[in-house]
Amino acid sequence: MVNILEVVTDESLRKENWWGKNYVCQINNFWFLPKFVPSTIRVLNEFKPLPNDVILASFPKTGTTWLKSLVFSIINRSSKESSLLVKHNAHDLVPTLEVQVFGTTRQYLDNESHHSSTRLYSTHIPYQLLRKTFDSSNCRVVYITRNPKDTLVSMWHFTNKWKAVDQDGPWHIEEAIEKFCSGVFPGGPYYDHVMGFKNASLEKPKNIFLITYEELIKDTKIHVKRLAEFLGFPFMNHEEEEVDEIVKNCSFDILSSYAVNKSEDFPSWFQVPYNSFFRQGVVGDYKNYLDAKTIERIDALTRDKFHGADFMYGI
Ligand code: A3P
Repeated sequence: MVNILEVVTDESLRKENWWGKNYVCQINNFWFLPKFVPSTIRVLNEFKPLPNDVILASFPKTGTTWLKSLVFSIINRSSKESSLLVKHNAHDLVPTLEVQVFGTTRQYLDNESHHSSTRLYSTHIPYQLLRKTFDSSNCRVVYITRNPKDTLVSMWHFTNKWKAVDQDGPWHIEEAIEKFCSGVFPGGPYYDHVMGFKNASLEKPKNIFLITYEELIKDTKIHVKRLAEFLGFPFMNHEEEEVDEIVKNCSFDILSSYAVNKSEDFPSWFQVPYNSFFRQGVVGDYKNYLDAKTIERIDALTRDKFHGADFMYGI
């Protein structure tokens, strides 16, 4: 076990290559990009959620951008803020704790004194590391997950959009599959990440809400209402049209049509262009990239890690 209080840089941590010359560092069984080690440690040591805070948690590529857009729209529906998604990428409206908030600036913590307002953040840090942080507060957490095969394929595409591809060459799908299955993958192991939040949602259902990308695709409206209820911003019967508006305005087609989300520009906080957060937005695209043997290999892992723990999901 790494003593989090003693970690200042990634120097003392175990490292493994995951793609090209790029490595990930291990903190208590989970793998992190070295760039985010110091800021992750700062989150774990310093972040004190307020009771009204909402934290959107996820493993990378499981629908974070969509969830941010939906929750931002639900919470801000009666304010001027509601139209901000037209001009701003969701990641600039809902900052990630270990990337923007505890990264280079602390600007997003400015409203710390406003105890009555809702601060909205996201994180990819696993529950196993955040347990104490969440236990210290009555804040609400929404965790989105996605089936492992689509998550892997989405991450593979995303990584191949990184600036580093110019130097390090592409990440080959065979390598991505190996890394995903071994768990040596940014944010990984995927299965432990998901099970941490799954179990937490069962232990603390008033504070931790789990939703899957697939159920959100299947009936977005129902789940937007459930999310709103959980977050303490329920829709009244006469607000059906508002729910429809939110579902439409956060759909893949609408969001991906905005100039900011089509942009080849890079945000200040990460090495991918804004447009790489929008690719296809469908369920089952893995069938176009994974062969039968790989599908069976990942399904076997899913049966072991999820079904074996009574979470009948992911195949
Ligand atoms: P694909 O690569 O399968 O298309 P994250 O936001 O966690 O990085 O996840 C990115 C995935 O969510 C990508 O999946 C992306 O296309 C999809 N996505 C982004 N916005 C979406 C939306 N509004 N509706 C559905 N899927 C969306």
